[in-house]
Amino acid sequence: MNHAIFEKNSLILLLAALIVVSIGGIVEIAPLFMLESTIEKVQGMRPYSPLEQAGRDIYIREGCYNCHSQMIRSLRDEVERYGHYSLAAESMYDHPFQWSSKRTGPDLARVGGKFSDGWHVDHMNNPRAVVPASIMPSYPWLAQRPLDYADIADRLSALRMTGVPYSDEMIANAKADLEAQVAPDSKGAKAVLARYPKAQVRKFDGNTAAGAGPTELDAVVAYLQMLGTLVDFTKYDASGPNLR
Ligand code: HEC
Repeated sequence: MNHAIFEKNSLILLLAALIVVSIGGIVEIAPLFMLESTIEKVQGMRPYSPLEQAGRDIYIREGCYNCHSQMIRSLRDEVERYGHYSLAAESMYDHPFQWSSKRTGPDLARVGGKFSDGWHVDHMNNPRAVVPASIMPSYPWLAQRPLDYADIADRLSALRMTGVPYSDEMIANAKADLEAQVAPDSKGAKAVLARYPKAQVRKFDGNTAAGAGPTELDAVVAYLQMLGTLVDFTKYDASGPNLR
């Protein structure tokens, strides 16, 4: 009998439905905002170094995500081909994330260390030079263009606003760290490693001539070479607490 009011008045029915649905929503979603463990913490994850971040921005600018995913699913064929499946924590500092939805080329989540810098340099310049049947476009301008990093400190500050834990020190030294990461003999090289553990410090594009500054290719290769290298999977145990 009490139903009559809902059955005769669509507006009240709609309101009641909204209330019921939102209770369900709150019960499911609200705890996720409060639980520390929503994203399981994993040892080794850190924000991108300024050079890696610059490379990531070029990766987005060039639309690499249209053909490449960075998300290994927990399916046997993927794990056998690409390595350990991706953990939520591995993209927790990614704004925007690069999971992508299409694989014309292979997944790149763990491409770091798979090839030499020289291979990447040749491949970016002309993929057919190293993979004759490749349909990937060439990106020859990356090697020629000096990297524009005038705003790198602002870039890190903006990311901090979205929750990436860049410290004041990291932001203040962003430019110096970017330059030092391609200058292994410089004084700043050690500081880069201290601030960004496991960062690789070298001239990635192979142009070690005196005065050769960072190029766009340096940034892209630095980014590709770090992908998937931060978490030590010999120590990570997916079956339980892994803060060893
Ligand atoms: C039109 C699609 C397409 C686009 C866009 C594209 N790629 Fe590729 N990529 C491929 C294909 C196909 C392959 C496999 C053949 C090869 O190695 O060239 C590949 C292979 C690769 C590989 C080797 C991966 C492996 O494990 O063998 C890397 C690294 C790579 N691409 C990086 C990039 C980057 C960086 C960009 C953007 C600057 C990019 N790709 C843009 C299609 C694409």
